[in-house]
Amino acid sequence: MTIVASKPVAANSETIAQAARILAEGGLVAFPTETVYGLGADATNGEAVAALFAAKGRPRFNPLIVHVEDLEQASKHGAFSEPARALARTFWPGALTLVLPRRVDSNLSHLVSAGLDTVALRAPSHPIARDLLAACRRPIAAPSANLSGKVSATTAVHVAEGLGGKVDFILDGGPSLLGLESTVIGFDGGKPALLRPGAVAREEIEAITGPLAGTDEKIRSPGQLESHYAPRAALRLNAQQARDGEVLLGFGNAPDARLNLSPRGDLKEAAANLFAMLRALDKGAAAIAVSPIPQTGLGEAINDRLMRAAAPRNAS
Ligand code: TXA
Ligand code: MG
Repeated sequence: MTIVASKPVAANSETIAQAARILAEGGLVAFPTETVYGLGADATNGEAVAALFAAKGRPRFNPLIVHVEDLEQASKHGAFSEPARALARTFWPGALTLVLPRRVDSNLSHLVSAGLDTVALRAPSHPIARDLLAACRRPIAAPSANLSGKVSATTAVHVAEGLGGKVDFILDGGPSLLGLESTVIGFDGGKPALLRPGAVAREEIEAITGPLAGTDEKIRSPGQLESHYAPRAALRLNAQQARDGEVLLGFGNAPDARLNLSPRGDLKEAAANLFAMLRALDKGAAAIAVSPIPQTGLGEAINDRLMRAAAPRNAS
């Protein structure tokens, strides 16, 4: 690729068509989804997928989510059981990723699965992501558009800050509505299991599947490394107030908060604000204290991200 982007371009029918051409030629395109921004490559092109791992600095053992238009396209790559199909019918297009046995006749690059015999599939609902999938007529492998281990990007400017100069095109579609990555569901001996809490709350999924199996170590997403989503600043969780040298990221009634995820204590609002507020505080503060967040609904995913952001840093 000759073009290397560092500035986002507003998404419209022309720039989406241009992005689709770049993908078809093996380039890397960052694009908005309803969860977070994705860094896309043609999922059937091994060289493009290898370039994607390199741009993110992502370990090769961590497989990627393949974005598809719908259940029909997904069925060419993953073997859907009845419970998997029921979940796709209920939540697609949307913020749910299904990890399924990979079909032997799938033409996806083996790199997307990182050597596993499964593949992660998601049909996003964001209109720009859908238009891009339709325009390039191929599945798009897309991890979150951030450097490996860092905070996910919920705006095109955040993508450019982390990956500018390493990608060919950045489509700007405004801030991500949900602000948290998709929920990842796998199947352990046919039983649905929560591999990563995310933008679809456990309760919504369990209404369809019944109780989800626990996230047992051996079936966990390989990407669930301890330290992840990590700002530069140190993080202290479940804090009632800031100590010396800290700024408070509040939730609910927190008069001393420098920023507040949701003054009215709304978890959806907090999810949408989480990554942008972590980034904003990280620019000034050496240490961030975070108010307690309830563990219900979207709180499970918010607390998961906060725990990883606070974990000791060793990996990239
Ligand atoms: O909302 C999202 O999911 C965003 C947008 C761009 O779609 N994408 C995203 O991708 O968060 P990424 O690569 O940052 O996270 C993908 C997660 C990782 O935890 C990875 O290990 C897991 O999905 N995953 C992918 N393929 C898998 C597989 N075959 N088996 C188990 N886990 C898998
Ligand atoms: Mg990620």
